[in-house]
Amino acid sequence: MKKLSVKLGIIFFIIIIGLESFIFFYLHSSLVDSRVEEELSELQARGNSHRAVLEMNFDPTTVNHIALMESEADTDVVITDSFFKFIGSSKQSIHFSKYINQTITTSPRKGKIIEDNWREKPFIATVSPIEVDGLTVGYVFMFQDTASVQSLIMHLNEHFLLAGLISVGLTFIIIVILSKALTKPLIEMKEATSRMSNGDYSVSLPKTGKDELGDLAHSIHLLAHQLDYLTKERNEFLASISHELRTPLTYIKGYTDIVHKRNLPRDEQEKYLGIILEETTRLSILIKELFDLAKFDQNTFVIQKKRIDFSEFLLKMEQKLLPAFIEKNMNLQVTCPPHLFLMADPIRLEQIFLNLLDNAMKYSQHGTRTDLKVEKKGTNLHITVTDNGKGIPETDLPHIFSRFYRVDKSRTRALGGSGLGLAIVKELVHAHDGKITVNSKENIGTEFAIILKGATE
Ligand SMILES: Nc1ncnc2c1ncn2[C@@H]1O[C@H](COP(=O)(O)OP(=O)(O)O)[C@@H](O)[C@H]1O
Ligand SMILES: [Mg+2]
Repeated sequence: MKKLSVKLGIIFFIIIIGLESFIFFYLHSSLVDSRVEEELSELQARGNSHRAVLEMNFDPTTVNHIALMESEADTDVVITDSFFKFIGSSKQSIHFSKYINQTITTSPRKGKIIEDNWREKPFIATVSPIEVDGLTVGYVFMFQDTASVQSLIMHLNEHFLLAGLISVGLTFIIIVILSKALTKPLIEMKEATSRMSNGDYSVSLPKTGKDELGDLAHSIHLLAHQLDYLTKERNEFLASISHELRTPLTYIKGYTDIVHKRNLPRDEQEKYLGIILEETTRLSILIKELFDLAKFDQNTFVIQKKRIDFSEFLLKMEQKLLPAFIEKNMNLQVTCPPHLFLMADPIRLEQIFLNLLDNAMKYSQHGTRTDLKVEKKGTNLHITVTDNGKGIPETDLPHIFSRFYRVDKSRTRALGGSGLGLAIVKELVHAHDGKITVNSKENIGTEFAIILKGATE
């Protein structure tokens, strides 16, 4: 579960410790170098100042005086003549003679460092030549015990070690906190998605701000919302389907039983068989509609576009539907400019208009009028189907394109509606890359407006 934080933590830790070690090492060595250099140049300067005094008075008194002065300091001095013979020193040590006996070929006026190996040797040392009238008459050797340098460096090391330990500890704590804080929202999101896969869509994720993690949390929220909606919709849809199928089947079963068991007179038998036939037809229409919708959902619905002469097409449909309108004592008016062509699937287009005109007829009273108007605007066709029927209440209006939605369930069933008609119309219009909208006022009428692309004259 916490693997990511451990991984991140280790990576951070290694990188930061690596960087810290490098910086510490660099700092340490440059500090030590500059410290030792300082010591050496101080020693050299001290030797040079003794030399200056000796150049003014190169006599035993001055030599002794300088030797005495140095015996009080923590540096030491050895003064020799030009043949490296001792003529004065602040302290006796066998180590001194080792350096002095070495032949010093040339030593410049400003002096020379003759030992700087403070790590291994007991002393660091410098030499300054004493010159009188252009001739070297002697040498001032300066020595400093390296023990003092070493203890200085040891102190420095101790400080470094302490600082190192503190920074490693702090780094560790900060990284643990940081990597936990970083991975916490990720872990929460992972848990949320696994809850979602178990069907619990009530995810609540903390707001992490407007960074990538925040975006991810937002996407998961949306996904949960959508899944929740889809699951509910699917369940409702299945419930509706089973309900819709059950009703006609109950009729069919009931009347078949009656016809089968009772010895009914011929005309009554005919009546019941008529009902059975009606319900069977209703069932097969319903199943065909469901099948169409399933094809839309799977994106396997095929539209076969052809060039259609629109006025001719509408004329045929008017002829088909007019008898039904006349039977209901209703008026159907179709207006379409001639020589209008459209690229569309004629069978599907007919399905659209049959559904809309069927609704206009079903949900209008006797004596009303239905208008189908076509206008060409640019390359678009604007088609309106208007009736003066009972209209649709405002609260129902947003839902009428939903599957199985009917304003008045019981009465619509009596009219033969399943509530799938407009859902199919919408899908068909969209499959033609078109748009459909509805406008309605209760007891005044309804207008469906369709815009289709690709009209020519
Ligand atoms: N022209 C209309 N006038 C009034 N109500 C309508 C009209 N067209 C559709 N409706 C309402 O919208 C609902 C859905 O329509 P539809 O999907 O075609 O289903 P149905 O199978 O009931 O006709 C209908 O039940 C009806 O209540
Ligand atoms: Mg309908």
